[in-house]
Amino acid sequence: MEELVALCKRRGLIYQSSEIYGGLQGVYDYGPLGVELKNNIKNSWWSSMVYESDNIEGIDASILTNPLVLKYSGHEETFTDPMVDCKSCNQRYRADQVPKSCKPEDLTEPRQFNLMFKTNLGPLEDGSSYAYLRPETAQDIFTNFKNVIDSTSRTLPFGIAQIGKAFRNEITPRNFIFRVREFEQMELEYFVSPGNDEKAHDIWVQNRLAWWNKQGVPTESLEIYDVPKKELAHYSKKTIDLMYKFPHGLEELEGIANRTDFDLGSHSKKQNELNLTSKVGLNKNSNSKLAIQDESGDWVVPYVIEPSAGVERSFLAILNEAYTVEELDDGKSRIVLRLKPHLSPVKAAVMPLKKNNIDLVNIAKRIKGDLQELGLGRIILENSGNIGKGYRRHDEIGTPICITVDFESLNDNTVTIRDRDSMQQSRHKINEISDYLKSIIK
Ligand code: GAP
Repeated sequence: MEELVALCKRRGLIYQSSEIYGGLQGVYDYGPLGVELKNNIKNSWWSSMVYESDNIEGIDASILTNPLVLKYSGHEETFTDPMVDCKSCNQRYRADQVPKSCKPEDLTEPRQFNLMFKTNLGPLEDGSSYAYLRPETAQDIFTNFKNVIDSTSRTLPFGIAQIGKAFRNEITPRNFIFRVREFEQMELEYFVSPGNDEKAHDIWVQNRLAWWNKQGVPTESLEIYDVPKKELAHYSKKTIDLMYKFPHGLEELEGIANRTDFDLGSHSKKQNELNLTSKVGLNKNSNSKLAIQDESGDWVVPYVIEPSAGVERSFLAILNEAYTVEELDDGKSRIVLRLKPHLSPVKAAVMPLKKNNIDLVNIAKRIKGDLQELGLGRIILENSGNIGKGYRRHDEIGTPICITVDFESLNDNTVTIRDRDSMQQSRHKINEISDYLKSIIK
């Protein structure tokens, strides 16, 4: 973990938030390369969910959430962790995460602590008008269920996907970006007819394993954990956690839950009682406000399968899998991030052999411009004149290829391409580099 944290800081992937004032616990900022890797992970998830499927729509809803949503979803009552105080060191801990140095006789009885952040709406701070920062992105999907159906005419089975911030006032944030107070979730709510839920759950576990494999986290690195009944969240009938061996231990990377009709059913019931349906479009053909017709035309409140992955934990797992220290023939070693090229923060670095040589720099600029236009991601022009140092830097950040423009390039329109993984160098025509790069970044 220490090596990953050092790399993240050194190369501009992740910084401590508000660092110049001593930081803010459980909050991190993403630097110039971190934002690229994070966006690439999110784009890869979004593509696989929304673009590559035929029945999944995307939304982007608000973080500030009406307290009624989180009351009727059960979060006000049950989204809690047990907390204890140590009378000896005067620290507060999650009851299951007390350090060994605290003696049991020094601990208070566990109390339930709600993890949701509350904030005031408007200028009055008398507690009469407040909202929550959403603790999961899922609830906005449920509250927009009717809106999406009405505007897309979707029928079962179909899904709604969302990527966005979620907030939890974790009692003990720790292990770098593994457990933080502000994070992003990539969540899909996949609606199916009751009775089709268990099969859909199995299929989604397999789909997600295939996705992780494509991101460089092979199934052999994951453990499938069938969450025991007593550990299930209040809404779940069955949850499969994909566990990953993080540098600090085996922990949850993604949860795939069968949330049944718990959320839609609960919001539906309250909609009926409160008669708040005018805003979401009253369903005149069903007693239930958040119902849909199933494959045989009956009105049902669908069941939902929910694959939910955190972006930060994905980032950490992907980084950990890619991070390699390699011994070289000359006795030295190199750090190389063997990221899948579609995730690499920089797709190619173009390097003139001699710093500020106008002819070489002009060719390099033209190559950079042409490659940038492909829309594959960030291309960098490195005008330091130190090719060896450039290779080392780009190995460490996982750039798949470096392109060196030298004096031969002026005569024969060719360049040297150096491959990150094999370190092999080969000569290529300038007008063939685009195809070369496209073939790498699938
Ligand atoms: N909507 C379901 C849900 O929120 P969860 O298991 O509480 O389920 C889903 O969270 C995922 O969100 C986790 O698998 C994890 O990747 C991520 N996550 C949850 N809490 C987190 C935290 N405090 N810091 C970073 N990621 C977190």
